[in-house]
Amino acid sequence: MVKQCSFTMVKGFMVAVVLVFFASATVFAQGQNTTRKILVVYFSNAENTDGTDAVSGASVQIVSGRKVGNVQMVAEIIQRTTGGDLFPIQTQNPYPKTHKELLDYAEREKETNTRPILSTHVRNMAEYDTIFLGYPIWWYTLPLAVSSFLEEYNLSGKTIIPFCVHGGSGWANTIEIITKLEPQAVIKDGFTVSRNTVARSERDVTAWLRRLGMVR
Ligand SMILES: Cc1cc2nc3c(=O)[nH]c(=O)nc-3n(C[C@H](O)[C@H](O)[C@H](O)COP(=O)(O)O)c2cc1C
Repeated sequence: MVKQCSFTMVKGFMVAVVLVFFASATVFAQGQNTTRKILVVYFSNAENTDGTDAVSGASVQIVSGRKVGNVQMVAEIIQRTTGGDLFPIQTQNPYPKTHKELLDYAEREKETNTRPILSTHVRNMAEYDTIFLGYPIWWYTLPLAVSSFLEEYNLSGKTIIPFCVHGGSGWANTIEIITKLEPQAVIKDGFTVSRNTVARSERDVTAWLRRLGMVR
């Protein structure tokens, strides 16, 4: 009787162990193979010049025969590596394509604290939980088209991962602005690179994505 009882207890214990194992295996599997949906948002302006123009500071990259801005180049690496969807922030009034005109235009926009009207919109933002957000530094801060984007959406509870290309200013005050405009979002460690080395940055970009656990 005692023997039968302890056998039943051992059997029960083993069943419990097996159940706990499978339950935790399920949680683990979900953690590894997340159903995370990623959007790679970027603002970038390929200027009218061939390659980096050391005199004016204008820059453009040629990727597979296409002329792309520096930030767009990084955005496309992130898109390929993570399997996310790509989304360009574009404005109704296009920005000038020549460097000097673009500098003046952006300076005026900053002085008047304008919010450019956007011509591209994310229809299904609710589906995304992770937003990579890419931009250049303009006049020591976030381009105002990116502020227009952040003010258009409530990204509460979503993860924002910033990336930027600059000409020496690093992040400037952009992380503070993003935090202010999206106070309920989780802002993760971003990636910043100088326009002087962005053309050779693919390995650094993928290493950063690996550290974040974002490589598909
Ligand atoms: C209007 C304008 C203002 C800029 N202001 C700064 C700045 O204040 N600090 C800085 O480090 N780089 C500045 N830059 C350099 C850009 O951040 C850099 O060229 C960037 O790679 C441009 O990205 P894109 O090619 O994707 O547009 C400026 C560039 C432009 C066009």
